[in-house]
Amino acid sequence: MRIGVLTGGGDCPGLNAVIRAIVRRGSADWGNEFVGYRDGWKGPLENFTAPLGVEQVRGILPRGGTILGSSRTNPLKVEGGIETIAANMEANGVDGLIVIGGEDTLGVAKSLSDSGVKVIGVPKTIDNDLGATDYTFGFDTAVNIAMEAIDRLHTTAESHHRVLIVEVMGRHAGWIAFHSGLAGGANVILIPEQEFDLDRVCGYIEKRFEDQYSPIVVVAEGARPVGGFPDEDESNTDAFGHVRLGGVAHWLEGQIEAKTGKEARATVLGHVQRGGTPTAFDRVLATRFGLHAIEAANEGNWGRMTALRSTEIDLVDLGDAVAVLKTVPPELYNEAEVFFG
Ligand code: F6P
Repeated sequence: MRIGVLTGGGDCPGLNAVIRAIVRRGSADWGNEFVGYRDGWKGPLENFTAPLGVEQVRGILPRGGTILGSSRTNPLKVEGGIETIAANMEANGVDGLIVIGGEDTLGVAKSLSDSGVKVIGVPKTIDNDLGATDYTFGFDTAVNIAMEAIDRLHTTAESHHRVLIVEVMGRHAGWIAFHSGLAGGANVILIPEQEFDLDRVCGYIEKRFEDQYSPIVVVAEGARPVGGFPDEDESNTDAFGHVRLGGVAHWLEGQIEAKTGKEARATVLGHVQRGGTPTAFDRVLATRFGLHAIEAANEGNWGRMTALRSTEIDLVDLGDAVAVLKTVPPELYNEAEVFFG
């Protein structure tokens, strides 16, 4: 069997570990051949391929990014996009596709599968917001990067008696903010799931200074004050219609200084959270997803996606992958409130 592999959407640590596991097991156990599709959906859409075999995956386990490249190309926005992909796959002698991606990429995979193309999904995102799996790989690495940054910010905050605000990724779900904030001992954690009250945030900050400590605020990029921002610009969107976020930490910097009279500084971690080598947890999870995805392909389990359920890797319907966005439950968030202020 000849299998196409692509990585789509925002990259994340562990993508190369999945590709390596697919190729190594597929070659060893079933004699599979592979075609690498470059830059997400752009690859099968424009027949943009790269050689993919055991030779190409040697040494890539610890490498961040993806050897196949990625993009946010959306074939559903291209006229005849799905048909073009199916025709290109046929021309390449590709029997089926393994698609490694998040909500958007897997949504396209579902449409392709519904139109009769053989597809297997592998979930990835540093945001950890896919409902069908307990964890996505990339998340643990991002949390550790953010936690290390928070640890460092504590010491400089104390030296200068400042408020330090750390903005982390998380568009609709505050998993990175919640986990890194809890692990890093943040004094306030703000997530997209719950609009925050600015006066309450300032109250926590003042309380922290009264106790002779300098506060650290961890804020997810998608967090919003009650009632939203006064001048929100929603015009800058990508091919999947997502508004380009970023800026809440700098907004908070100004507001906190004005309301508390304390010096505040913002740090936006941005794409640092997505780059570099994966943690051991992410390497293992990504490898196990790859091993199970290629098994699913060889057993004819098309239209399915690998998912972590407790400690087991299961197969779920591709549709389940994109059905529910997994957000931070209020009761979990409330558990952290004892550390606020
Ligand atoms: O979906 C993963 C993610 O890292 C989000 O947390 C973030 O909002 C987005 O990607 C950023 O995307 P881009 O790299 O296209 O700016």
